[in-house]
Amino acid sequence: MKTLEKQSLAAYIEPALTYVEDPKLKSALLNALSNKEAELALIEDTFEKIGSTKWTEDSFKMIFNAWKETHLKMLAIYGLSCRMQRIAIESEDPSIQKNELLMAAAMNAETSYEDLGLDFDGETHTQLYHDLAESFVSDDSWMLSKYATKEASAFKKYVYRNMVVAEDIQTGLFTNMFSEIYNHAEYSIALVAFNRLIDDHFSFTPEQKQKATTYIFAHIEDETELNHFTVVIDSLNHYVKGVNTEINYELAQETFETYLSKLSTVFNALSEKMF
Ligand SMILES: [Fe+2]
Ligand SMILES: [Fe+2]
Repeated sequence: MKTLEKQSLAAYIEPALTYVEDPKLKSALLNALSNKEAELALIEDTFEKIGSTKWTEDSFKMIFNAWKETHLKMLAIYGLSCRMQRIAIESEDPSIQKNELLMAAAMNAETSYEDLGLDFDGETHTQLYHDLAESFVSDDSWMLSKYATKEASAFKKYVYRNMVVAEDIQTGLFTNMFSEIYNHAEYSIALVAFNRLIDDHFSFTPEQKQKATTYIFAHIEDETELNHFTVVIDSLNHYVKGVNTEINYELAQETFETYLSKLSTVFNALSEKMF
């Protein structure tokens, strides 16, 4: 078995920050990463653990149930775009710049093109995720609530509420933005973990391996998540222009940090339950 270098999430996130032109937004991101180093390390350790051995069927079901809850936020993306377009269409405030708001809504929605399978004959990321999960378990019962953890369910709810319900729409944009840059890094370390898991502990054919890892690979090739990250920054800039406000950098950093804190509790709970 080959020894692997420890995979660092920050090592994948930080180079991507060269795409952030706004120095205050960049600082908010960097500060959040350095304030949440312990949380990031815990997530890295969990992926390393996932890749280290052939887990029991029940453990794999918990892994795939929990991991799914931290991704596939299409409904929340749609909700956030609806909120911005609704202001554009319904507001009677003459200071509102409708075109800017409609652009903000459209650019936010752009983060779901791949998830919806627009250019992939309608093959959704949900389908690809099922292909991943069902490569390691014998049936689709991993979706049942008996394999759920309360931490992962709470995380999904937290993301949805941030994007669809939170009073300030910027909270939703910061949540979508951060999840994209974070996911870019997470999928990068997850690919290493799952390749290792398959190579060391399973005897998949090349076709089976490809089917299992397409979900993860799809997010890394063509820098899909990185493009989503920059398009949400564009959406934010249109939004603040549209409603004549300033970017709330304090709220940005707070949102990024809370996202990581809550996410690390998901991985912590999962790691403790795996056997
Ligand atoms: Fe996706
Ligand atoms: Fe994305």
